[in-house]
Amino acid sequence: MKPTFKGTSFSITRRRFLQSAGTTSTVIWLPGMAYAQALEDVQEKLTGVSKWDLDTPALCVDLDHMEHNFSRIRTTTDRNGIGFRPHAKTHKTPAIAELQIADGALGICTAKVGEAAAMIEHGIKKVLMTTCNVTTHKISLAMELCKRSDQFIQAVFQESNARDLSAAAQEAGVIADVVVDVDPGGHRTGIAPGKPALELAQLVDRLPGLRQRGLLCYDGRVQHEINASVRRSQSVQAMEPAADTLEKMRLSGLNTEIFSGGGTGTYNIDHEIPGFTDVQCGSYLFMDMQYLANESLSGDDSYTDFKPSLTVLTTVVNTHIDGMATTDAGQKSLTIHKPDPKVLGESGVSYRTWGDEFGRITYDEPTRTYQVGDKLEVIVPHCDPVVNLYDVMFATRNNRVEHVWPISARGDAQ
Ligand SMILES: Cc1ncc(COP(=O)(O)O)c(C=O)c1O
Repeated sequence: MKPTFKGTSFSITRRRFLQSAGTTSTVIWLPGMAYAQALEDVQEKLTGVSKWDLDTPALCVDLDHMEHNFSRIRTTTDRNGIGFRPHAKTHKTPAIAELQIADGALGICTAKVGEAAAMIEHGIKKVLMTTCNVTTHKISLAMELCKRSDQFIQAVFQESNARDLSAAAQEAGVIADVVVDVDPGGHRTGIAPGKPALELAQLVDRLPGLRQRGLLCYDGRVQHEINASVRRSQSVQAMEPAADTLEKMRLSGLNTEIFSGGGTGTYNIDHEIPGFTDVQCGSYLFMDMQYLANESLSGDDSYTDFKPSLTVLTTVVNTHIDGMATTDAGQKSLTIHKPDPKVLGESGVSYRTWGDEFGRITYDEPTRTYQVGDKLEVIVPHCDPVVNLYDVMFATRNNRVEHVWPISARGDAQ
C-alpha cells in the first residue's frame, strides 16, 4: 500500500516538532521555518533510517502489524455482510484515513468538528462526525464543511439542535446530512430509543435544511468487557432498542441507510444486530494495553484478533539504583498508566510512568541489563490520548522508517 501524503499543502506554521524528530546521527534544527517546509525536511532526512536511531520519546507504528489489522477488519466485516467506517479519533492522521478508505472503508468517523476539518482539508471527504455540534461556532464550521464536502454527516440528538442546524444550513445555502444519535443506555449522548428517536428522525426529515440519513448508536461500556461471551450478549442486548427504532423508522418511510456503531471490542458481534450497517472501530489499527486485556471471541485469553502496532520509543537515562532504571517517557509521552505500558521483547520487567517526564522500569530478571542511552519500546496503555501528544508518527517496516506522517488533527479538541 502506497499512501499519498497531502500535508505539503499546509500553509500554517506550527509548533517546532523538529527537536523531537532528530536521530543520533542527524541533527535537525530549523527554528522558525514554516511547518510544511520543516516537515518535508524531516521526511527527507528520516525516511530510511533505523527507528532505533530516532531520538525519543518517539511515536512509531509498525506497518506490517497495522496492515494485518486492516485486513482483519476488512475480511471479517466482508464475511459478516456489514461495512466499516473507522474512527479517526484514534489516529488523527489523514495519511492513515486515506489508507483505510483505499482498503474499503465506507468513510471515516471523527469525534470533533476540528478533526473533521483537518480530514476534509486533506481531501478525506467521507466523514461521519459522531458527536453533535451545539455551539454557534461549531455549527458554522460544520456548515462550512458541508460546503467543502457533500459527504460530511453529523450527529444530532436534540430537537432544538436539529432546528438550529437546519436554520444554519439554510443560511449557508447547503443541505446538511445528519444521523440521529440513539442512547444505548449509557446516557453519555443520544436520544432515548423508540418514540423519542422516531419523532426526532421525522422532524429531521421535515426540516428544510437537513437530510435524514439514518441512525448512530455507540455503546462504549461493552467494548472493554473482558469476558467475550458477556461482551457479546451485553452488546446485542444494549443495541436491540436502537434496532427496533430503525425498524420503526423504516416502517414510517424514513431513510435507514445508515445504522452505524460498535467498536474494536464488538467488530465481530455487531452484524448480529438487525439492520446494522457499519462498525466504527478505531483502536483496532494500533491496539493498546486496555484492549489487549479483552478475551477474544475465538477463546484466546488476550485480544489476539489484532496485533499491537503502535509503540513509544524511550531511552534509559539513569541506572544508578540496582533493579530499576529511569527512562525519558512519562505521562507527557504515555498519558495514563491504567494499565501500565508493556516493554516489548523483554521479560521480568515492568514499566510505570513516573510523573510527567520520566518512566521507571523495575526488573527482577530482565533479559538484559540496561545502560544509559539504551532504547526500549513500549505498548501504550490507551492509544487515542497518546497519539494526541505527538506531532508526527514514524511508520516503520522491518524497523526502518518508511514514512513520517503528520498527525494533522492532534490537539483538535474542539
Ligand atoms: C462514537 C464512537 N464510536 C466508536 C468508537 C470506537 O472506538 P474503539 O474501536 O477505539 O473502541 C468510539 C470510542 O470511543 C466512539 O466514541
